[in-house]
Formats: sequence, structure tokens, C-alpha cells
Amino acid sequence: MADKKATLKVDGIEEVLELPVYEGSVGPDVVDVRSLTGKGLFTYDPGFVSTAATESKITYIDGAAGVLLHRGYPIDQLAEKSDYLETCFLLLHGELPSAEQKETFVSTIKNHTMVHEQLSHFFNGFRRDAHPMAIMCGVVGALSAFYHDSLDIHDEHHRMVSAHRLIAKMPTLAAMVYKYSIGQPFMYPQNELTYSENFLHMMFNTPCEEKKISPILAKAMDRIFLLHADHEQNASTSTVRLAGSTGANPFACIASGIAALWGPAHGGANEAVLNMLNEIGDESNIDAFVAKAKDKEDPFRLMGFGHRVYKNFDPRAKVMKQTCDEVLAELGMEDDPLLKIAMKLEKIATEDEYFIKRGLYPNVDFYSGIILKAIGIPTEMFTVIFATGRTPGWIAHWNEMISSDYRIGRPRQLYTGYPKRDYPA
Ligand code: CMC
Repeated sequence: MADKKATLKVDGIEEVLELPVYEGSVGPDVVDVRSLTGKGLFTYDPGFVSTAATESKITYIDGAAGVLLHRGYPIDQLAEKSDYLETCFLLLHGELPSAEQKETFVSTIKNHTMVHEQLSHFFNGFRRDAHPMAIMCGVVGALSAFYHDSLDIHDEHHRMVSAHRLIAKMPTLAAMVYKYSIGQPFMYPQNELTYSENFLHMMFNTPCEEKKISPILAKAMDRIFLLHADHEQNASTSTVRLAGSTGANPFACIASGIAALWGPAHGGANEAVLNMLNEIGDESNIDAFVAKAKDKEDPFRLMGFGHRVYKNFDPRAKVMKQTCDEVLAELGMEDDPLLKIAMKLEKIATEDEYFIKRGLYPNVDFYSGIILKAIGIPTEMFTVIFATGRTPGWIAHWNEMISSDYRIGRPRQLYTGYPKRDYPA
């Protein structure tokens, strides 16, 4: 029940409309506008800047304060003390696992890492130079054609089996996409490895040579997955929820999330960061690119800077910067020309009045792009890695919605086209 209310006076409507106001556990109050339709009114909020489309208990963000909490736990504490799979459990179940629950969860995920052998034939239908995200949209959606035994969305157990399958199979599919692009054989997952070691193994090892995985690089990979695990009602998560609200199966819903993530304003940004650094090409060109970014007549933006919600700093970027330093030191790459451009750009932009005034700071994608490049992951794979990390968030939101009293998502519009007119005689 709402304790507060808002009143609304609209020209042409005599009565003063009373709207309930709900308080969350933290964060802004929300005005319940659902009764407005009955009065012949819609609200107008392009980009959903002021619209809470759902109630959720999973993730809380305070953009101004740079706070990101998963089930109440701050992201920096999770990055320091937890790991990716434990965070997956937390997102899915609402609490941190006991030692026994964690062991069972890790073992369950390991038991689902292989994909149906027939799925590997799908890859042959794609061009070798296809964008990895194009293949991911296809093969993740195709999982629904293979795992019929977990597709009843009204069965809680089925939903959890699908969640485990998706979390487990995403790195396998991601590595398969990469191997296909370079013409190497697919590598099967290895159960004695951790989640992140396994991913690096499937990416970089071959049947002829199995290199030892560096613990620092495996830890960096784990952090990248963890820091991307969820981010409240962002564009791809909202897409998953919208697709899920129709009753679509979880594999199809996650494929829709992957499609939404692909855009450069969202998950495509880490790839765009590296493309931009390549385009800058030399430290002497940085000033010209910064000037372009500030020029209102020029659509160019500094990729990896700014965020819709964080207008002060991105708490994920802080942790990612630390990992970035560790990885560059481990690989002895502090003098890599591209990475030097990145570091100089970071310094110039963070000291520039234009960026400071608008609250534009390096976001998580700025540093994750640099780390992934240093690890040797090709640029086109960056968004695939974001998608892999984000899968538990998508699934947790989808599951939360299906477990609640939800309705099909159906936004309305301000129509500005022709009124009715007759077809020419
Ligand atoms: N470079 C230069 N100017 C910028 C940038 C940028 N990267 N980002 C925003 N601005 C300016 C923008 O021109 C506007 O200026 P003014 O007030 O003078 O008109 C002001 O900052 C506010 O911009 P906005 O477009 O209203 O901000 P938004 O909240 O709609 O957009 C954003 C957020 C992330 C899409 C945008 O900052 C951007 O395009 N950044 C580059 C792409 C990027 O790095 N995206 C990854 C986001 S983090 C990953 C994720 O969570 O998905």
C-alpha cells in the first residue's frame, strides 16, 4: 500500500487526479500512473528516463553517488571477496551461497558446459568473417531447439535448469565463435578448470598444445565477467524482460538481450573503444579527437566515456582500472603504443572542463577493452564477453519477472502521424 500520494491537474479534466506513490527500500519514490489510461492519458518518457517499468529486488544503482549493489552487496566488495560464479548464485537466489551450496552450484555449472554436438554444425552455415555477435544471436537462440526438457517457463525447476545451462554454455559458445573465425578446431571444456580458466583454455589452447593458464589473467577474466554480471534495468535487460513478458522461452529471451547489447551505445562500446584508439593511432592526434568529441556539430563521441546512470564515476571502472594495471604489468605491456594512447586519453579527458562539467568519466568498457586487448582477445569478441558476463543478470531478471504477477510489456505512444483519411478513389 502506498503511504504517499501525488496529485495531478490536467487541463480539460475537471477532477484532480490522485496517484499513489510507492517507496522503495532505497532510491527514488515512484508515482503509480497506471490509472491514467482510464482517464484517456498516457505518460510520455522517451528513453524511459523517468520510468520504472518494474519492481525488482536484484540490483540497486545510485548513479550520482557511484553506488552499485547486487542483492545489497557493493560491487567493489564482491569484486574483491567473491568470484563470478558465487555472484551468479547471489543474483539468481538472492543470498550468498553456503560453502556446500557453492560447491554444488559450481559443480552443476561444470556439468552443463558442453553444448549438444549437433549445435557445432550450425557454425558451418556462417561465414568465417561474420561478426561474433551475429553468430551468438543465432546459436544462443538455437539452444531452444536442443533443450526441450527445460522449456516450461511455469516450472521453477525448468527455469533453474535453463539458467544453469545458459551460464555454463555461454563461454563455450563464445570460444567456439572465436575458434570458428580463425579456422581452429573447437576445444571441449575441461572440468578441472575454473570457469574463467576454462574460457581461456577453450579460446587459446589447441589439441596440439595446451598452455598453462596464467592465474592473473584468469582472475582478470573472472573480474570482467563479475563486473558485467548485472546492471539493473539497462537496455538489454529490459529487452530480455520485454521478450520474456510474452512467454517466450529463456534461450530466445537471452538471444534478444544479446541483440540489444550489440549496439555501440551499450555493450558494443568496449569494441568501439579499441576501434577509436586505433583510429587515433598516435598520441599526437589525441587533442584533435578530444576537440572532435567536444564539437557539437560533430557526432563523434569519446567511446568508453560517459554513462546514462553514473554521472560522477562508474564504480565498476574503479575496480577494472586496478585489474587493468595488474594485467599490463603481468604481460609487460605498459609500453604498448595503443595502451599508451589509452592512458594519455584517460588523463586528458578526465582533466578537461567539458568532460568534468558533464560528468563524463571512463566507464567500465574503457578499461575492460584495454584488458581484453592485452590478454589477446580480438576486438570483435569484446561484446561477446560482455554478453557472457551479463547472462546471469538477464536470467535473474527474467526469472524474477516470471515468478511475479507480470503482464505483457506493451508501451504506448504519442501519435503524431495523419489522422484517419480515405484511400484515394
Ligand atoms: N563524448 C563526448 N561527449 C559526450 C559523451 C562522450 N562519450 N557522452 C555524452 N556526451 C555529452 C553529450 O554530447 C551531451 O552534451 P550536451 O549536454 O552539451 O548536449 C552530454 O554529454 C549528455 O549526453 P547524453 O547523450 O544526454 O547522455 P546519455 O545519458 O543519453 O548517454 C551514453 C549515455 C553512455 C550513451 C553516452 O555517454 C555515450 O554515448 N558514451 C559513449 C559510448 C559508451 O561508452 N557507452 C558505454 C556505456 S557503459 C556500458 C553499459 O552499461 O552499457
